[in-house]
Parts: sequence; structure tokens; C-alpha cells
Amino acid sequence: MTELKQYALKEVATQDGRNGRNLWIVIYDKVYDVTTYKNKHPGGPELLEEYAGQDATRGFDEFGHSSDARHALKKFLIGELVEV
Ligand code: HEM
Repeated sequence: MTELKQYALKEVATQDGRNGRNLWIVIYDKVYDVTTYKNKHPGGPELLEEYAGQDATRGFDEFGHSSDARHALKKFLIGELVEV
């Protein structure tokens, strides 16, 4: 099994999707790079931008995404969150 790269929230926060930076979000302690997905998200890019560089677990859960949506997450997984 491949080890996931570890990121601190501080590092995730720098990837806020602004000024050409990538857009990363955290869902259940996993880090996702959704830069290429942003404009394809059925819920619109704004919601992903709102959580850019942050923990979006609550937003993701509150909408009650389908299993398809949860499955789609896998494609964007780049690492896991660590406490520092
Ligand atoms: C990478 C993360 C995400 C993925 C892969 C994703 C995927 C999807 C997919 C596939 C749908 C279509 C409905 C479904 O299959 O459930 C959807 C709809 C939606 N998503 Fe996301 N989502 C993500 C993150 C978020 C976040 C963080 C929020 C809220 C803060 C959000 C809010 C919504 C809303 C409100 C809709 C409904 C759009 C509508 O029906 O008008 N999503 N999402």
C-alpha cells in the first residue's frame, strides 16, 4: 500500500485556489486537490472556493452527497492531514 503524503493544515491553507494556486480541501482528514474539478462540480465552483485551503467535511456532509460523489473524491486524493 502506498503511504499517503502528510500535510499540516497550515500547508493546506496556502493552496487556496487564488492567483493561479491550486485549490485543496480537506474532507475527513484527507487532502484533495480539486483544482481541475472546481468548474465541473454540480454544486458549482463557489462552494469549493469557499472552503479552499480549509476543512470542508461539514459542508460535504451537510449536503448529503451520493455514493457517486464520495467515490469521485478518490480521484483527487493527494494526502492526509496531520496535526503538528
Ligand atoms: C471534492 C469534493 C466534492 C465532490 C467530489 C462533490 C461532488 C458532487 C456531486 C457528484 C454532486 C451531484 C449530486 C451527488 O451526486 O451527490 C454534488 C452536488 C452538490 N455539492 Fe458537491 N462535491 C464536493 C464538495 C462539496 C462541498 C465542500 C460542498 C459544500 C460546501 C458541496 C455542495 C454541493 C451541493 C450544494 C450540491 C447540489 C447541487 C445541486 O443539486 O444544485 N460539494 N457534489
